Amino acid sequence: MEITYTNQQLGVPDVPTIPYIEGDGIGPEIWAASQQVMDAAVQKAYQGTRHIEWKEVLAGEKAFSKTGSWLPDETLAAFQTYRVGIKGPLTTPIGDGIRSLNVALRQTLDLFVCLRPVRWFSGVPAPVKHPEKVNMVIFRENTEDIYAGIEFELGKAETDKFRHFLIQEMGITKVRFPESTAFGVKPISKEGSERLIRAAIRYAISNHLPSVTLVHKGNIMKYTEGAFKNWGYKIAENEFSDAVFCWPTYLEIKKKNGKTAADEALANAKKQEKVIVKDVITDAFLQESLLHPDDHSVIATMNLNGDYISDQLAACVGGIGIAPGANINYDTGHAIFEATHGTAPDIAGTGKANPSSLLLSGVLMLDYLGWSEAGQLIERALEALMAEGKMTADLFSQTDHATLLTTSTYADELIKQIETAK
Ligand code: NAI
Repeated sequence: MEITYTNQQLGVPDVPTIPYIEGDGIGPEIWAASQQVMDAAVQKAYQGTRHIEWKEVLAGEKAFSKTGSWLPDETLAAFQTYRVGIKGPLTTPIGDGIRSLNVALRQTLDLFVCLRPVRWFSGVPAPVKHPEKVNMVIFRENTEDIYAGIEFELGKAETDKFRHFLIQEMGITKVRFPESTAFGVKPISKEGSERLIRAAIRYAISNHLPSVTLVHKGNIMKYTEGAFKNWGYKIAENEFSDAVFCWPTYLEIKKKNGKTAADEALANAKKQEKVIVKDVITDAFLQESLLHPDDHSVIATMNLNGDYISDQLAACVGGIGIAPGANINYDTGHAIFEATHGTAPDIAGTGKANPSSLLLSGVLMLDYLGWSEAGQLIERALEALMAEGKMTADLFSQTDHATLLTTSTYADELIKQIETAK
């Protein structure tokens, strides 16, 4: 049955149909493991009153060999209709018009939030001293910025036209070497920024999280990244005034009535469990998130910053290979949950693949459906396994005294944990 979406609320039947793409390379192995574990968790949590009806849809190499298309229309139609789906990694086809299947999926469904929660699992080897202090949820804007793909290559006629427009018509004199410059355009819109920041603030409020940090480089890029910050504060004040306390308010009180009064107002807001909305310049954030990661909770940022930040934070918790992700349109409810790593062709078929990224994306999906009891069972099972040092080859190789599991025995162990959970 189809999942519905009205007034920002998903309507999830007891037996929702969920389309999935198993993916290329290690995709089939990690999908098989993840599906079994998710089914076991749903069964345990709801004792047969709920289950997922999985519907395979094709994309990537499997789609190409069966249908001649890398991304058949039926696949896009299934994600449109059933609203929530999940996917393994896909090979990026070379030279036939599609830049990336992932980008095509995101654009078609206008999945404007790239959601990346980052937390540490006890037992996972991490490069920082206190990985347990890293617990953040990144809202990365997914459709705009320098990643929009508006680029002009050196030597092309269109580039000459663009250069002419900039220099002759706009009177721009700042291009250092005009004749040998390629160009990229950075679109940052009010609508695009607002919908991303709105989703981040709503998420913080409904999950009782302490803060939203707007990360930007607005000190240099005033009209794009600076505007992102300003629109963010405006939307927080205009739409969530009862539930948030914004940093500019703190500064205003401080200016008028002194630091003690401002600190008091901030303490009061925290006591009332208001979400503190603040901002940090990107380079400072990259330092701060290493030095004081527990100062930040939900992060709202643009596409390029978000790309860097997601991987840096995932690396802090040793989780670059196990980090989950989702692409979501919070206005229509459409969402695709996905492993964040690639197809790992070097280990495909060897049983070495770690299914945790896809599985944790499944946990995110279960939470999104409101089936968090099942998601928690999986998270607790993963915590137990990692704490016991039962690991797949990627993490095993970095740990002393661990037990090596294959992709499928890892799933078996997780299912055992789930079935015997109290
Ligand atoms: P990759 O993430 O596939 O592999 C990088 C390294 O990490 C390899 O050594 C691989 O063995 C290891 N690795 C990745 N996932 C693992 C897992 N679950 N368990 C254990 N080890 C794991 O990145 P690469 O090699 O750059 O890309 C391969 C293909 O994947 C390319 O076609 C690329 O375009 C595609 N790709 C697809 C993505 C997606 O569908 N979301 C994301 C990134 C890459």
